[in-house]
Amino acid sequence: MAELGHDVIGVDVDQAKIDALAVGRAPFFEPGLPELLTSAVATGRLRFTTDMSEVADADVHFVAVGTPQKKGEGEFAADLTYVDAAVTGLIPYLADGALVVGKSTVPVGTAARLAELVTAGAPHASLAWNPEFLREGFAVKDTLGPDRLVYGVAAGAAGERATAQLDEIYATALKTDTPRIVTDFATAELVKVAANAFLATKISFINAMAEVAEATGADVTQLADAIGHDARIGRRFLNSGLGFGGGCLPKDIRAFRARGEELGLGSTLAFLGEMDSINLRRRDRMVELTRESLGGDLSGKRVAVLGLAFKPDSDDVRDSPALDVAARLQEEGAIVIATDPEAVHTSQRIRPELTYATTVAEAIVEADAVLVLTEWKEYRALTPEDLSAATGRVILDGRNCLDRDLWRSSEWTYRSLGRP
Ligand SMILES: NC(=O)c1ccc[n+]([C@@H]2O[C@H](COP(=O)([O-])OP(=O)(O)OC[C@H]3O[C@@H](n4cnc5c(N)ncnc54)[C@H](O)[C@@H]3O)[C@@H](O)[C@H]2O)c1
Repeated sequence: MAELGHDVIGVDVDQAKIDALAVGRAPFFEPGLPELLTSAVATGRLRFTTDMSEVADADVHFVAVGTPQKKGEGEFAADLTYVDAAVTGLIPYLADGALVVGKSTVPVGTAARLAELVTAGAPHASLAWNPEFLREGFAVKDTLGPDRLVYGVAAGAAGERATAQLDEIYATALKTDTPRIVTDFATAELVKVAANAFLATKISFINAMAEVAEATGADVTQLADAIGHDARIGRRFLNSGLGFGGGCLPKDIRAFRARGEELGLGSTLAFLGEMDSINLRRRDRMVELTRESLGGDLSGKRVAVLGLAFKPDSDDVRDSPALDVAARLQEEGAIVIATDPEAVHTSQRIRPELTYATTVAEAIVEADAVLVLTEWKEYRALTPEDLSAATGRVILDGRNCLDRDLWRSSEWTYRSLGRP
């Protein structure tokens, strides 16, 4: 926002994050963000605080706090504590004409409820919902040049005013004809969860085909290429492998399903439970494949795990399939040495019991098997010579991202998910 010319103040309740940001240090790994942060802070148009009162004269307040899955057994709904706290905390500081803009991914119905709270506490302020579609790893590009803008606004004059305020904020993107959809609160909230439900379904569909391929000797990557040529299907998001994870897709499809139950639409969204199960079964299969490839018993076997982040170009390990598999292999008796170009420190925080290496060379020493679980560019480029310090000649490709022929021609046992 500062890069786009606005005066911005960032508020968080986490003092450590604010301290890092204030000196221009991004609290997570995201390509291009450190440079952008440094230049924006230098312009004087971007600063950070934990003190909500400092936002009192702002025209627009974006609320982008977390909406994690509620904690507790069998609990799938979104935890709205943080969104509620942020909006309630803002109300005393809302100037006349100020606009609160929800960015967080929320269950349908949340915006209408929060709009009432805002109007009751600050009658001359209003609320809009403007879902966020950025992808981790591409966050800077997606934010500076979004592929679409969705505004959920109230009916009537308040909605027209909110639309005009949002148009001013997104003037740069609108100048390049970025599609803009102005709609009601419920549609805006649903656009986000529907998009994530669709993407999760696409990945789980191809992973279901991988299960069928494994049972029949077919090759799921060729299947994906062949069906992907049909423009109605498309090849993107059809990469079979260890499945999706991260801080969005898993919790968003679960929360959508939970909201469906509340709305009496349990059967309508039940398929999302199936998508979740297909996705989680890929992790079981990866553990099983490792066991099979190491003679049926994991105990005492040295396993090098390359990749811990839920996707490349991120240090995010929330619900990461790679980290989950690493931990399960260790629970089953393997000696796991795990590495990742960026996600070792984030993994250490939630899985301190694992052994970590800082480089591939260190991780693979005397390994009985090497597993590639996140498709970082540098892992995709690995050759048999790079891994010559491993004891076993077993490579397991959890992302169908390596050249099978190259490994097999160098007398490695190469195995992957969904391919013979
Ligand atoms: N991460 C993504 O790629 C992505 C993409 C699109 C949408 N979203 C949605 O955006 C929201 C945030 O996601 P995230 O990944 O950034 O979450 P996160 O947990 O990484 O960050 C949330 C931040 O909010 C802060 N916070 C909590 N309560 C606060 C309060 N009352 N006042 C001020 N700050 C507070 C936390 O300290 C934390 O720094 C979620 O709803 C998510 O679903 C995320």
